[in-house]
Amino acid sequence: MASITSASLCSLLFLLPFLLLQLSDLHVSEAQNVPIAKGLSLTFFDTTCPRLESIVRKQLEKDFAEDIGQAAGLLRMHFHDCFVQGCDASVLLDGSASGPSEQKAPPNLSLRPQAFKIIDNIRRQVHRRCGAIVSCADITALTARDAVVLSGGPDYKVPLGRRDGLNFATAQATLDNLVGPSANTTEVLRRLARKNLDVTDTVALSGAHTIGLSHCSSFTNRLYPQDPTMDQTFAKNLKTSCPQNAQVDATVFQDIRTPNVFDNKYYVDLMNRQGLFTSDQDLYTDSRTRGIVTSFAVNQTLFFEKFVIGMLKMGQLNVLTGTQGEIRANCSMRNSDNTLLSSVVDVAEEAGQLIGF
Ligand code: HEM
Repeated sequence: MASITSASLCSLLFLLPFLLLQLSDLHVSEAQNVPIAKGLSLTFFDTTCPRLESIVRKQLEKDFAEDIGQAAGLLRMHFHDCFVQGCDASVLLDGSASGPSEQKAPPNLSLRPQAFKIIDNIRRQVHRRCGAIVSCADITALTARDAVVLSGGPDYKVPLGRRDGLNFATAQATLDNLVGPSANTTEVLRRLARKNLDVTDTVALSGAHTIGLSHCSSFTNRLYPQDPTMDQTFAKNLKTSCPQNAQVDATVFQDIRTPNVFDNKYYVDLMNRQGLFTSDQDLYTDSRTRGIVTSFAVNQTLFFEKFVIGMLKMGQLNVLTGTQGEIRANCSMRNSDNTLLSSVVDVAEEAGQLIGF
């Protein structure tokens, strides 16, 4: 807060009545009002896999103790899964004879390789304990929630019961569904509205950039030539980390104040013109979103409430449920491509056993 400029403070005072109104309207239980998609439930595995959530949480505590950066990787993975073809774990599939996987599409090239391993490692533990009844899509949603919680963000119940998709999207469909960092607010709002996410959801979900890293190539268009909406000192430091025509695509923290903590400092960054992408900074420039940015910068509780609502909406996009899709026995391949699985199925069928997937 100490570094909020006087111009920012003026606009903050101007917005105070609006902020107070918003706060008085807020109910603690608001997140519970997000509708739960047909086929999903908050108690889905209560009897069939009661230890599910503790298995996920315990493993992630270990993973993040080694490298807290993985939390950001898992949160982004869930976003990239849900926005392309719905939350069906299609982003986890390796390519097949039908073509290259979603992973090979440009926006997914910077997903962290370790995030894929973490998800499948947890899937293995869960299936060992409960049988193959929990989908990779559900595990991805749970790891995203725990990434937020274990980085200091809000806790919330995740509706479960997603099934895994049988197909991945094309590179073009992936590009069409994920917004690029040079998009302005008009474009970002338009793209997220297609997913039934409103202006508040959009500003709140962008707050996920309070953790994690970005490659220089994602924002050097704002350095060379320098974007006038970027703070001078911030730009100077970024130019040192990301020299023009560098051989290596280095990475920088997205939130310069508290890079590994899930808090509201991303919005304080934006008010100080220290947002990394156009898609971030323009949320403070654009009059439709500026007030929401300010309200989150001064009120972390409000941000957390709205972020949870956004995550619940995003996490239920076009889910497969019931008998749709399948429960993958390996997150990176569909069961029909899993030769190990087909030999197990053959043996089990010969022995007349009942199989869980
Ligand atoms: C609104 C549109 C969005 C755009 C344009 C955008 C764009 C980007 C870009 C370009 C990066 C850096 C990739 C790299 O260079 O390595 C990034 C990172 C990240 N994004 Fe977004 N993003 C958006 C929304 C979201 C949402 C909705 C979430 C999650 C709810 C999210 C979570 C993250 C996280 C956690 C990282 C850091 C990943 C890491 O450290 O591995 N983003 N995003």
